[in-house]
Amino acid sequence: MVIILIIGGSASQKLAAEVANELGEYLCPIETKKFPDGERYIRIKGTIEEKVVVIQSTGYPQDENLLELLFIIKNLKSLGADEIKVVIPYFGYGRQEKRFKEGEAISAEIVANLIQDAGANEVISIDLHEDSVRNFFKIPSQNITATTPIANYISNLSNNPIIIAPDKGALGFAEEISKLLDCDSTYLTKVRLSPEKVETQIADISNETNNENSSNKSKVAINSVKGKDAFIVDDIIATGGTIVNAIAILKEHGAKSVSVCCVHPILVNDAILKIYAAGAKSIAGTDSLKSEVSVISVAKIIADSLR
Ligand code: R5P
Repeated sequence: MVIILIIGGSASQKLAAEVANELGEYLCPIETKKFPDGERYIRIKGTIEEKVVVIQSTGYPQDENLLELLFIIKNLKSLGADEIKVVIPYFGYGRQEKRFKEGEAISAEIVANLIQDAGANEVISIDLHEDSVRNFFKIPSQNITATTPIANYISNLSNNPIIIAPDKGALGFAEEISKLLDCDSTYLTKVRLSPEKVETQIADISNETNNENSSNKSKVAINSVKGKDAFIVDDIIATGGTIVNAIAILKEHGAKSVSVCCVHPILVNDAILKIYAAGAKSIAGTDSLKSEVSVISVAKIIADSLR
């Protein structure tokens, strides 16, 4: 049997341990530290196998975590690893996948090139903000989804849920979860006015509800949240502005409770406080990023993608 070595960078060590556990593979010890002047140091302490899986999210501090990931990949190559699969549960810089304004750097492409050029043979990420980021890689890539662990989490909390996408971009994600739960879903529409400020409206779904052949047949009007446990689901919560607006609309429309789930809990600028202050019953994210609300494990879906 080929032993696969699992290595967790400092952003994802617990998750790496859980993935190793799921797979029954060896978790390789790694030493990571910062010198007093801020420079990074890494040392891989185990014996290098031919096949290695590196798990490292590149969320805050993005540049440090990314550089550490590049150090790990390059180091593994020079120590003799043949095949390096790189799991990046949260792919930092993934939201700048194109030039929105003239002269901007396409950061997601630059990051993808760096990871590939360092020696990655395959990249696996979870719910990339834009799936098109995978096109920047010339190596095989997978973008797996956390819909199943999120649906399982919701099913343990409510037997009367309704799933809400807080903007149209999250609609497909919300529908996948509602299918898994066999419950209704709906969505809101959002315009971002600034990094901190968004405007949210009720979507007009009058032409979308009664088509029996549509894959969207569980989509219902906003009034259907009345008396139900509403679960807002999104890929990312950053400032919390998107969620705060959605909570207000769901409460106005008589939801019995409003809970919030996301894949990547970035949570900046007191987002948790703002969301609870807006009336959320609970906030949950996956452990793609470490946070106070990272209670949904993605270890199993990562392990499944590596089997
Ligand atoms: C954007 O389209 C994403 O799916 C999230 O809705 C967004 O990143 C959330 O940002 P914030 O929490 O700052 O409103």
